[in-house]
Amino acid sequence: MKILITGITGYIGSHTAIEILKSPKLELIGIDNLSNSNVASLDRIEQISGRKPKFYEIDLCDKEALANVFEKEKDIAGIIHFAALKAVGESVEQPLRYYHNNLESLVNLLTFCKEYKVNNFIFSSSCSLYGNVSQLPVNEDTPLSETESPYAHTKLVGEKILRAFTEEADTKICALRYFNPVGAHESGLNGELPIGKPNNLVPVITQTASGMISKMTVFGTDYPTRDGSCVRDYIHVTDIAEAHVKALNYLVEDDNSDQFEVFNLGSGKGVTVIEAIEAFEKVSGLKLNYELGPPRPGDVAAIYSDSSKAESVLEWVPKRDLENMMSTAWKWQQMLNES
Ligand code: UD1
Repeated sequence: MKILITGITGYIGSHTAIEILKSPKLELIGIDNLSNSNVASLDRIEQISGRKPKFYEIDLCDKEALANVFEKEKDIAGIIHFAALKAVGESVEQPLRYYHNNLESLVNLLTFCKEYKVNNFIFSSSCSLYGNVSQLPVNEDTPLSETESPYAHTKLVGEKILRAFTEEADTKICALRYFNPVGAHESGLNGELPIGKPNNLVPVITQTASGMISKMTVFGTDYPTRDGSCVRDYIHVTDIAEAHVKALNYLVEDDNSDQFEVFNLGSGKGVTVIEAIEAFEKVSGLKLNYELGPPRPGDVAAIYSDSSKAESVLEWVPKRDLENMMSTAWKWQQMLNES
């Protein structure tokens, strides 16, 4: 069965590729425009899995280039769509870039999905579409509040586009709402490697610990939380990757599934930014140089997941704890520092 991963050289895409390649019956092809990742990621996938996916360096907004991929790879059975811009703060500053990139790429992909009768589709969604909710934890039935950033809005609209798409195509779709994926492959050979200055918390922490960032800032100290910093639900990237394999099996094998389904993927534990820093300090034995600063535009105060639907329907249970997330992220950073 041929599976296409968009954003394959990215953080979650590469970890998911490793899990997909464990199954000999799955053939993997990947697409990426390398705008926030490096082609060397394919070597890491091969080093860990022993298999190298076929790769197309194209931009999903380039419809002609995408048409060529579908023309060449006619019998794609499933698509896992990761490719997107994903920095909350940046999306507030550059909304048009986010709407254009994240939505045009999705519409193009679905156009070919319909034309080539691709039966299964998994969408990288985000807990950010819940907005600032009044009740925690959130499950898939929690009423959505106003989105706080254009990034979050592109994920909300993305889900709406997908739901509408089921009216004109038979494709079965799962939207997976990730909470905050962090950590690295247990081997330390693959992890998050943003190009330029990182935006996400854990790469900022590990780069601060390595001295690449002299002092990091905790964004916001007056949120209505235990210590005033934001609460997030950190979830190991390998647990997230494993959920994609389960979702793919579910789409392919379960005839009773609804044509469009959403699943939360989180650990269920709310952790403040300061607690995350302390967890890192504990596993690394290092003191982080940080200061308390103003809030980052677009951030919600607190969110964590009720993932019981994924547990019961997909039989997915996250296995790795916060210490494991921090120690694998640190192992990966140290590997990068040495290379
Ligand atoms: C958001 C989404 C998440 C998505 C991710 C993609 C929410 C609730 N979550 O994560 O689903 O996968 O974008 O990028 O919207 N922080 C600092 N200092 C830093 C960096 C971050 O204090 O230098 C804080 C942030 O303010 C936030 C937390 O750390 O409170 C996590 O931030 P980040 O890693 O950027 O992820 P989110 O924006 O929460």
